[in-house]
Amino acid sequence: MYIKLDKLNIPRSKTGKELIGTREMAAFFTSSRSCVYLGMLICVLGYQAASSSAQDVSSLSLSYYDKRCPTAQQIVRKEMDCAVRNNPRNAAAMLRLHFHDCFVQGCDGSVLLDDTVTQVGEKTAYQNLNSLIGFDLVDRIKNQLEGECPGVVSCADLLAIGARDAVLLVGGPYWDVPVGRKDSKTVSLDLANTDLPAPNQNLVTLVSNFLGKGLSVQDMVALLGSHTIGLARCVNFRDRIYGDFEITSHNDLTSQAYLSKLQSSCPESSHDNNLSPLDYVSPNVFDNVFYESVLKGQGLLNSDQELYSSLVGFETSDLVKTYAADPLIFFQHFSDAMVKMGNITNPEGGEVRKNCRFINS
Ligand code: HEM
Repeated sequence: MYIKLDKLNIPRSKTGKELIGTREMAAFFTSSRSCVYLGMLICVLGYQAASSSAQDVSSLSLSYYDKRCPTAQQIVRKEMDCAVRNNPRNAAAMLRLHFHDCFVQGCDGSVLLDDTVTQVGEKTAYQNLNSLIGFDLVDRIKNQLEGECPGVVSCADLLAIGARDAVLLVGGPYWDVPVGRKDSKTVSLDLANTDLPAPNQNLVTLVSNFLGKGLSVQDMVALLGSHTIGLARCVNFRDRIYGDFEITSHNDLTSQAYLSKLQSSCPESSHDNNLSPLDYVSPNVFDNVFYESVLKGQGLLNSDQELYSSLVGFETSDLVKTYAADPLIFFQHFSDAMVKMGNITNPEGGEVRKNCRFINS
């Protein structure tokens, strides 16, 4: 089975160039009934038209490794199982690695490349530095794959399969992962700095970023449900807990206790790297509790709470309510969105790296 970007319902111009998200963007703003953002809309569409050619071809298939490396999926599952049992944070690490890979040049393993004398990698980008983890786990899985089928399974596919297994192993949904990605021979620190979303960005900026990648508003809200697992550093939620947290939350006893706890581990001006769970109710389980917390105004990151509390978030707040009420719809939309995100390919093609940290010599 081949899944092509055409199936993602992305509008195209007569030349075949995608006008990614144009219709979605218009719909989002219309539903937001906000004329204030018209100028920004024009700006965003201009940006999208200029940056949309990076997602041309996707010829991934579910059977790609059936003959080439029949045990590939089992090897990844076994290693992920072991790693997540050992420390559930490994599930969060793998899921985020796949996301940060796909949002920069497409899902091509570029996030995994180390700095060399000739190439600066993406690991020092604002959203990655002191934050992205899981590289050792990737090395372990890659070693096993190379032992069984040398030079066959790409690092980009390893991340896509690993992310699916990660979600499944902590109680989330299963989906079939189309495979056959190639690893890039290039990296882009600049793109990593511009394209990875940041927690202090507002809803309009976040939505336009996702639309620029061919992902809809629904995809974005569903994908953000990933914050049902994993941890965040104080530096990323300080503004929120000393800012509008009290206003968005119901200021009841539970919210107050939660806020005090957050503030005691994350003071106003130090301990930047202190960690707190993104979902304090069930931090190691992939469920829909994240949306329940956002509904209560208790989202940890400003970007999470924007989904529900932004003045222009009519569509997003409806989706938050839907996912909080129905975990199965959340699981279905999340799985669909993960496949879409995984289909963002790098049209330049590439190779199958022997070591995920370096291009083949
Ligand atoms: C609006 C878009 C997003 C923003 C602004 C955002 C931002 C963040 C931030 C700031 C952190 C904490 C990092 C730290 O403190 O070091 C984080 C963690 C995480 N994010 Fe996101 N994120 C977004 C979307 C996503 C998506 C789409 C996924 C997956 C598909 C994802 C998966 C994760 C996971 C699993 C963690 C926990 C990682 C860990 O524990 O090591 N995020 N995100």
